[in-house]
Amino acid sequence: MLLALETSCDETSAAVIHDGRVLSSVVSSQIQLHSEYGGVVPELAAREHLRNLIPVTTAALAEAHVAADQLEAIVATRGPGLPHALMTGFKSAQAMAFALRKPFLGIHHHEAHLYSPWVSGKPLTADFTAFEPNVSLIVSGGHTMLVHVQGELKHRLLGSTVDDAAGECFDKTGKLIGLPYPAGPEIDRLAEQGNPKAFDFPRPMIHDPADDFSFSGLKTSVRYFIRDNPALLDTPQGISDLCASVQSAIVDVLVKKTVKAARRLGLRCVTASGGVTCNRALRKELAAACQANGLKLRLAEKELCTDNAAMVGILGERKLQQNQTQDSSLIDEIRPNWPLEEMLTAQ
Ligand code: KG4
Ligand code: ZN
Repeated sequence: MLLALETSCDETSAAVIHDGRVLSSVVSSQIQLHSEYGGVVPELAAREHLRNLIPVTTAALAEAHVAADQLEAIVATRGPGLPHALMTGFKSAQAMAFALRKPFLGIHHHEAHLYSPWVSGKPLTADFTAFEPNVSLIVSGGHTMLVHVQGELKHRLLGSTVDDAAGECFDKTGKLIGLPYPAGPEIDRLAEQGNPKAFDFPRPMIHDPADDFSFSGLKTSVRYFIRDNPALLDTPQGISDLCASVQSAIVDVLVKKTVKAARRLGLRCVTASGGVTCNRALRKELAAACQANGLKLRLAEKELCTDNAAMVGILGERKLQQNQTQDSSLIDEIRPNWPLEEMLTAQ
């Protein structure tokens, strides 16, 4: 029985995990608080985490019908993320582990995303017996990366974004259109009524042999397009067509590059996780491309796509079971810029 905390960005989350099963997962989102400012304000996020941590943790324990003294370990996100936000959850978890005299483990946020596609069903349960080597796409507001997952807890980074993340591109495009932050879900909704072929936006680095991504040029071309066609925003159809066309450009790049990497490496499985994996067009296009290329696809369940402590707990429990505890202890500090690569070579 293990408690996990996640506070790397703007979600305060606590989860109780037992034997690969998610007994409870409570997520308190700060979206409303930050939308007023058009993006996450780090200082506000940290203060909100402090306010929410105890109620969220208490709720997760209550929902799982578990008392604190029944916990066998505590884990928390150690990085990467916003420093003060990370600090709240990580230090609280360490303090709890110290008080309860239980093992503590700091978890890499992206590594937690990486294994989240193997958790599914009701109740959410990890099935690592089904695991097979794969190419994993992690797409969120802060990150876009392709990872070669060679074995369980054995992976290497193939590529990542050289500028904006895919989610950031959704959010910045939305801002140009006048949509509230975060705009990803709203673009997803509006695009449903739009024509993805209405406007032809660039697909940056789609043919580049490297596995890196770039999205800031796409955002800039949307900016110029809106400047040159302002009337487009006057009609719902114009907005929907614009959303569908931009979404199609982002999805196209993500899908083509993911499938290309899987084929090049001779892998038979693709996985995807992170907030943008909630996007319906991405889910649909990835499924179609994988089917056309004879690849299995595992998409993270929607509730595990956006930030949550359940995925942190699932990975933490797996690592503790495999004795991978050497990289964290009660005196460790947060790692706001913890590179996935560094973590892997340290294992
Ligand atoms: O993983 P996440 O919750 O937080 C980060 O670690 O960034 O991802 C949030 C991002 C935001 O950029 C948001 O706009 C995007 O995921 N997002 C979506 C959708 N749902 C969330 N983007 C496109 N379509 C969606 N349905
Ligand atoms: Zn995340």
